[in-house]
Amino acid sequence: MSATEVLQNSDKSLAEHAKSRYDASVRLSVAPMMDWTDGYCRVFHRLLAPNARLYTEMVHANAVIHGDRAKLLAMDPVEHPVALQLGGSEPALLAQAARIGADHGFDEINLNVGCPSDRVQAGRFGACLMREPALVAEGVAAMIAACDVPVTVKCRLGVDDDHEYARFLAFIDTVAAAGCRDFIVHARNAWLKGLSPKENREVPPLRYDWAYALKRERPALTVVVNGGIADAGEATAHLDHVDGAMLGRAAYHDPWLLHRLDAAWYGGPVSTRADVLRAMRPYVERQLARGAQLKHISRHWLGLFQGERGGRAFRQVLSEGAHRPGADWSLVEQAIAVTAARPPEAHGFDAVGASAQK
Ligand SMILES: Cc1cc2nc3c(=O)[nH]c(=O)nc-3n(C[C@H](O)[C@H](O)[C@H](O)COP(=O)(O)O)c2cc1C
Repeated sequence: MSATEVLQNSDKSLAEHAKSRYDASVRLSVAPMMDWTDGYCRVFHRLLAPNARLYTEMVHANAVIHGDRAKLLAMDPVEHPVALQLGGSEPALLAQAARIGADHGFDEINLNVGCPSDRVQAGRFGACLMREPALVAEGVAAMIAACDVPVTVKCRLGVDDDHEYARFLAFIDTVAAAGCRDFIVHARNAWLKGLSPKENREVPPLRYDWAYALKRERPALTVVVNGGIADAGEATAHLDHVDGAMLGRAAYHDPWLLHRLDAAWYGGPVSTRADVLRAMRPYVERQLARGAQLKHISRHWLGLFQGERGGRAFRQVLSEGAHRPGADWSLVEQAIAVTAARPPEAHGFDAVGASAQK
């Protein structure tokens, strides 16, 4: 089947295409996103996509070492496999933070070499490290020596006016020589001056061909492509060239996309939006009993019924009601009721409940 056929986007064609390529070894990942991929979000994404790799928001190595770990590294067992994303550049600190992350149960430690914000540049980490491959390699080597889970790197193609593929490849080779086998490539440059982080996710042109060339020329490395992937067809078409796709904004705003991709790529059962949401109930009620507010949990669900009948009303009921003091699960049922979803019934999709009973 051709990528063009896949782009026609029927779930059957996605499934056939993914299977014909790499079977279960394909990587579906949800991007690390500050203020978005908190623990509440990751649990929701896990229920939607049982086989996806999830990533935390970036946490600076210093914060891991000196900060409130119970809060910063909080993770529900249902989230596995989940990666802790670290920011930083001092090898000794990165190593210490990586060890702490692995001891907390994270399945992977990922180093951020892609964030372009001014604050991050001032701290000499994030995307500006694309210009310091030797330092990244030193950091990665120290992290690998300090922990026994995979250490991965999420990077850009380059910064500012780096337009030579050879320079990008040299960066990867230097870091790979330090022992990193897995690279997530946000396939555009970061412009360090004059663009906001948001513009840096939109303005510099995408060059997927560099990620494809990397996989072709370094087949032993795992290459996951990221940046601008808008739908299931596009994500699946990348499997012709690389090992997987990492989705950020599209997955966040249209979470059902994750469920479709997971079912298509890994062959799992297809559930319904309402059933996935109801599978959150034991987790949500536990969090509410601990003093959490529904609005902080449910804000990640607003796009669940996007494009469906009642999708806007669902969003409205949830976003207005969840702010009220004492908002509880009954509001979620009200929100589901305004959609075309079927009424409550037994469903076999209760991963969070199951983990709670362990
Ligand atoms: C709100 C937001 C926060 C982000 N925070 C991080 C972060 O903490 N670490 C990181 O590596 N990338 C971060 N990113 C970048 C994403 O991981 C991803 O590389 C980028 O959005 C491109 O992928 P997309 O087009 O699929 O969204 C963030 C993106 C968004 C939208």
